[in-house]
Amino acid sequence: ETTTLRGELPGVKLAGSTGATAEVYTHGAHLASWKTADGVEQLFVSSDVVFKPPKAIRGGVPICFPQFSDFGPLGQHGFARNETWEVTARTPTSVQMTLRSTPASKEKWPHDFVCVYEVMLGAGNHLKTTMSVTNAGIEPMTFTTALHTYFRCDDALAAKVTGLKGASYLDSLDGRVRREEIGEFVAFAEEVDRIYLSTSDALAVEDVAGSRSIRITKRNLPDAVVWNPWIEKSKATGDLGDDDYKKFVCVEAAAIETPVTLPAGERWECEQVLECVKHASPVPA
Ligand code: BG6
Repeated sequence: ETTTLRGELPGVKLAGSTGATAEVYTHGAHLASWKTADGVEQLFVSSDVVFKPPKAIRGGVPICFPQFSDFGPLGQHGFARNETWEVTARTPTSVQMTLRSTPASKEKWPHDFVCVYEVMLGAGNHLKTTMSVTNAGIEPMTFTTALHTYFRCDDALAAKVTGLKGASYLDSLDGRVRREEIGEFVAFAEEVDRIYLSTSDALAVEDVAGSRSIRITKRNLPDAVVWNPWIEKSKATGDLGDDDYKKFVCVEAAAIETPVTLPAGERWECEQVLECVKHASPVPA
């Protein structure tokens, strides 16, 4: 059911009717490539990527679950991105992968859960992902989560993230102090690491140098993390190339400030749709 992808890791390659493709690894249910019909890669993967489970793949869309960052007692970003998921359904254009609690996961996080993630290549330049979490236990459970998308940019230093004007954010580079976004867009001229709270569900990454935007439509993921590691953190991060900060920005649809509390037997769902929109190239001067 799976094929061998990069790093000799198993996964599934999706092919849309218009020529779009995507690659999803069973390691982390990690979406690590999405090419639109024109063959252009829309997701960033590190030039120093290490394909060695349980290490998470640096780039694409790691799933942070059941904890975002250090918002709880688990390791950074929880464990879903480090686990092997099971392929539970598949068509040429879609794949569903499932992660269930195990005795080992319950040692870290004492809950019975079923997490189902689905990636679908849609018509046009759309890619849709859905995730559901079912509480299969008898006690309520609480989690935070993020779809930690690395958007490839021709030039991240010229990129803009729109849709956040007026939103409050916690600045993770300044003790998570709360501030308000007053700019029309977020630009990248230094390290940025912010948790925008209860944002609009319509955001966009404008890759100005690449003459294209990715529109993000999220549902049931109220928050949005914006991250670019900049120079020092790129150098200090072993599986990031020194210059990689110029090649991506992360915008992570998330539920962080208000953790999700799921009563026994209940299911929670979220969705993220990405759409690539091309702009006319600027007329050369
Ligand atoms: C972001 C966090 O979501 O993920 C950053 O806001 C963090 O603080 C980044 O550096 C990368 O995390 P990791 O664990 O994949 O290196």
